[in-house]
Amino acid sequence: MSALAAEVGAINLSQGFPDYDCSPELIELVNKAMKDGHNQYAPMAGVMALREQIAYKTEKLYGAKYDPDTEITITAGGTQAIFTIISTVIHPNDEVIIFEPAFDCYAPAIKLMGGVVKSLELDPPDYRIDWAMVKKLINSRTKLIILNSPHNPTATILHKKDIDELSAIIKNQDILILSDEVYEHLIYDGETHHSMARYPELQQRSFIVASFGKLFHATGWKIGYCLAPAHLMHEFRKVHQFLVFSVNSAMQYGIAEYLKNEDTYLSLPSFFQQKRDYFRAGLSQTKFELLPSYGSYFQSVKYGHLTDEDDTDFALRLTREAGVACIPTSVFYTRETDHHVLRFCFAKRQETLDDAVNRLIEFKL
Ligand SMILES: Cc1ncc(COP(=O)(O)O)c(C=O)c1O
Repeated sequence: MSALAAEVGAINLSQGFPDYDCSPELIELVNKAMKDGHNQYAPMAGVMALREQIAYKTEKLYGAKYDPDTEITITAGGTQAIFTIISTVIHPNDEVIIFEPAFDCYAPAIKLMGGVVKSLELDPPDYRIDWAMVKKLINSRTKLIILNSPHNPTATILHKKDIDELSAIIKNQDILILSDEVYEHLIYDGETHHSMARYPELQQRSFIVASFGKLFHATGWKIGYCLAPAHLMHEFRKVHQFLVFSVNSAMQYGIAEYLKNEDTYLSLPSFFQQKRDYFRAGLSQTKFELLPSYGSYFQSVKYGHLTDEDDTDFALRLTREAGVACIPTSVFYTRETDHHVLRFCFAKRQETLDDAVNRLIEFKL
């Protein structure tokens, strides 16, 4: 959709990335790290100063102690962490439960390792997980459950009752969790982010994935990290060592300094909530039906009452004719289930959002 948007000159609210720059201070700190000579290989697990900052942040926010030496690894973005986790734990015929619509990199990595994707489809408007159905999917081959909260593409979040149900279901099972928490700070209306790190019995079997690209409006930097208890991280690093070896040094030093100011991440909920509210107010003037957005930087809309076109065709038409690009949600389902829902990214400047909303208001179906 980004390629089409560029080709036809549409406003690109499809892919999840900001159209404003990251902090000049962060750029300065990375520059300084380069000038200070941090231009050679970083240690395999990452620069210690950064791992220490992550340990501090995680303990302060979620109460979990991660040893920077053995339980934190810096990765080349969330995607690499996810691939590494899956290739670390999945062997042929192992089953992995995922919830669809799902971020696009989970299923291909599982299949590449010979694993079997067991997907549970969630439906709009609330995309609630039916834990009784999850329980039915579990058997002796179930190796991993992949969670993602705040969620891409639906903008839903896990609640405490989900955590309770999950805990009860996997209590005496040998099942691991991959918790994709790249939007951990993009959560609104005072809601709590239920990180796996908050719950000792879940934390002990979880790989948690985070992304500085999402955190610091710098998706092009492709840098993130993975948290896991030592025995799991030990296995993770066996793959990481030969897949990536180490992640670029200067950015790690720069980010380690930048993270010392907690405001850099604590201010994110209000920063993005303001954008969400602004975009929703604009969209409410269109004919679309707005779905809730509790977290992430996505806003979905339903359009089935306006046309019965399938969501891919409609998204293409909206890009070409209205000049606004979005993502049809069916692409996030293995079976391409079409609920006539489109996803927009609101991590954009106010002018961009204004322009997009005006075009959508003017668009004649
Ligand atoms: C849910 C989710 N997980 C992981 C990623 C990947 O993060 P990164 O860009 O750090 O690889 C994304 C990026 O869009 C995402 O939406």
